Amino acid sequence: MRLFTAIRLFSLLAGTVQTASTDTANWFDKPFGMFQINLREIDVDMDVNATADFIQDVGGILANYPTKLDFQIINPRLQDRASGDLVQDSLDAARARGLRLLARVDFSKVQRQVAEAHPEWLYISPNGTWQNHTNDLVSVCPSDAWYQERIFDILDEITDWYDLDGFFVNWAGFNENDYFHVYHGVCHCASCKKAWDEHKNGKELPYGPEDANYREWKTWSDGVMDEWTRRVRNFIAQKLPHAGLILGASSDILFYEANNAIHREIWHHATSETVIRLKSERPDTPVLVNCASFLDHAYRITSEDPHHFAQYHVQAISRGANPSTYIIGVPSTIPCPGFEQAGEIIRFHRANADVYSGMPSSALTALVMPPGSQVGEPHYQTEALSEYKGLYKAMQELHMPFDIVDHRYIVDMAETGDLGRYRVIVLPRIGSLYDEDAEALDTWVATEGTVIVTGAIRTDDNDVPQLQSLPASKMRENITDTQELTYEWKNGSTGLFKELGYAPFAPPEYIYGNIQIDERAVGIGSYGKGKAVLFTAPVGWGYRETGLSVFRDLFELVLFEVGAEEPLPFNFAPQMEVTVNTSGNNDHTLN
Ligand SMILES: *[C@@H]1O[C@H](CO)[C@@H](O)[C@H](O)[C@H]1NC(C)=O
Ligand SMILES: *[C@@H]1O[C@H](CO)[C@@H](O)[C@H](O)[C@H]1NC(C)=O
Ligand SMILES: *[C@@H]1O[C@H](CO)[C@@H](O)[C@H](O)[C@H]1NC(C)=O
Ligand SMILES: *[C@@H]1O[C@H](CO)[C@@H](O)[C@H](O)[C@H]1NC(C)=O
Ligand SMILES: *[C@@H]1O[C@H](CO)[C@@H](O)[C@H](O)[C@H]1NC(C)=O
Ligand SMILES: *[C@@H]1O[C@H](CO)[C@@H](O)[C@H](O)[C@H]1NC(C)=O
Repeated sequence: MRLFTAIRLFSLLAGTVQTASTDTANWFDKPFGMFQINLREIDVDMDVNATADFIQDVGGILANYPTKLDFQIINPRLQDRASGDLVQDSLDAARARGLRLLARVDFSKVQRQVAEAHPEWLYISPNGTWQNHTNDLVSVCPSDAWYQERIFDILDEITDWYDLDGFFVNWAGFNENDYFHVYHGVCHCASCKKAWDEHKNGKELPYGPEDANYREWKTWSDGVMDEWTRRVRNFIAQKLPHAGLILGASSDILFYEANNAIHREIWHHATSETVIRLKSERPDTPVLVNCASFLDHAYRITSEDPHHFAQYHVQAISRGANPSTYIIGVPSTIPCPGFEQAGEIIRFHRANADVYSGMPSSALTALVMPPGSQVGEPHYQTEALSEYKGLYKAMQELHMPFDIVDHRYIVDMAETGDLGRYRVIVLPRIGSLYDEDAEALDTWVATEGTVIVTGAIRTDDNDVPQLQSLPASKMRENITDTQELTYEWKNGSTGLFKELGYAPFAPPEYIYGNIQIDERAVGIGSYGKGKAVLFTAPVGWGYRETGLSVFRDLFELVLFEVGAEEPLPFNFAPQMEVTVNTSGNNDHTLN
């Protein structure tokens, strides 16, 4: 019997644009489309031919495999399949149609019986407990033998048996959060404690983000994952040289899952935003956007709204990512009202592969994603996020092409020279920067750039702002009620606009007396060959929270003074999204 499953081996069929080709370039460096099916245990009887036909029409598979490894569990339902091997059947069906097959594996959890046999593999919370899930699954930890050794046995078995076109490793990491979005803390398993002690001799292993050593632990644990990712990548490259790996920041194909969840605010730009960010960091690496046809986590049986589903696809292709349609179970068992539109977009992308091949961004402005602005990130700050989103919206509505740069990549991009692509970098309510980021930004400004800071930036014990390039020498006041900051300005700097002073606002009979005071709304100064601009109030937050377009107007006026000179002017309705790309013959417009 050849049926499969590592602990939870999800694999998937990928429908790609090209048929298996013989050229030596990576297949994933050209535009492609994908269809991902997360097969459930009960789907082992899937008709692979019908599914492959369906995928071919529109534009993957959980299988449990026949393992020799004693720590794996075979899906008992596989016995009901004639061949006993869903993966091989799928591979045959894919090959017969010129489709490629990628395997999706998830090593983040093990079944209870495996957990009980190998408790040393498990995630252990600071209070000593396991992380239990539905269906008796238990989270594991990357530090111990499961990740470091057994996974390589599994990959060895799979790659021996199947000539797959790629791997997608899902949810690999330290499992601080579980599927219920519950935060469990930093893993305290014996291997983590030992490795941390060796790394940091004697410093306390933190419990969570509130602890002093957490940042250091985060850097260390990211390093453990990077090293593991590198090993997986090398292993797969050796066994299946033509296969692409989707796993983490250094993989062959960068990945984003476009999805929607209860308890999460809808942000309709999320797909564009993420693709731009990934492309800014690694311009030459293909990006895959997996568009979920269902609501996340506990509500996966609920279909996504067809228009929102289409929006994921259309934003993906317009930003130069490869679109993937993602469903649960054998096609047509769970209704998906968005298939029609998604298929249309995927086919459009396939028919215009030339256009979608290599159209690097020509944006001269970068908006930095501030620390703590991503949902789920420790120290998640709604204020920084609101400022960032307000500016994102403003710039998009002004049709100003811009890239997104994650604050974590500032130093890297300065080192590679990628920061030099930009004329203007906007820091939305950045709060506290790492010292090396601040240094890199100051250096960049001095050599030619214009930095724009809106809202708060950290000041030291003497109230001196963290960026030396700023036109302010000192923060004078931090008025928390109105979120204003007042500064002492450097000689030679100039101001734009003045503030109105405070006056009574109630009862209505007394609403008068606000007069213009001698406080700048915006300060501008030179630094080396560059410029720095400081907004004394969070203008993006104002736009986001109140919707008053005067905030956007103010931002626009300042950009008019100091912004980059864009090659093309636009005169569209604000809600139209525009991307500008220089290579090829076409400028690309997305409605
Ligand atoms: C799929 O179709 C091919 C060609 O008709 C056939 O040989 C093969 O047995 C089918 N596969 C399965 C698993 O039914
Ligand atoms: C997880 O399950 C194990 C085994 O049933 C149980 O002993 C333990 O208390 C559970 N842990 C948590 C945190 O629920
Ligand atoms: C241990 O931590 C987990 C996760 O935070 C929590 O669910 C559990 O109640 C805690 N158990 C004890 C005994 O404190
Ligand atoms: C085109 O440029 C925009 C920025 O204007 C960028 O976000 C996008 O990824 C580029 N599109 C493609 C298809 O590469
Ligand atoms: C201003 O004060 C608030 C509230 O105390 C604080 O959170 C914030 O960090 C301060 N901002 C600056 C720039 O010091
Ligand atoms: C700025 O100019 C004022 C007035 O001319 C002068 O008193 C002050 O010393 C100058 N400050 C610096 C840092 O140069």
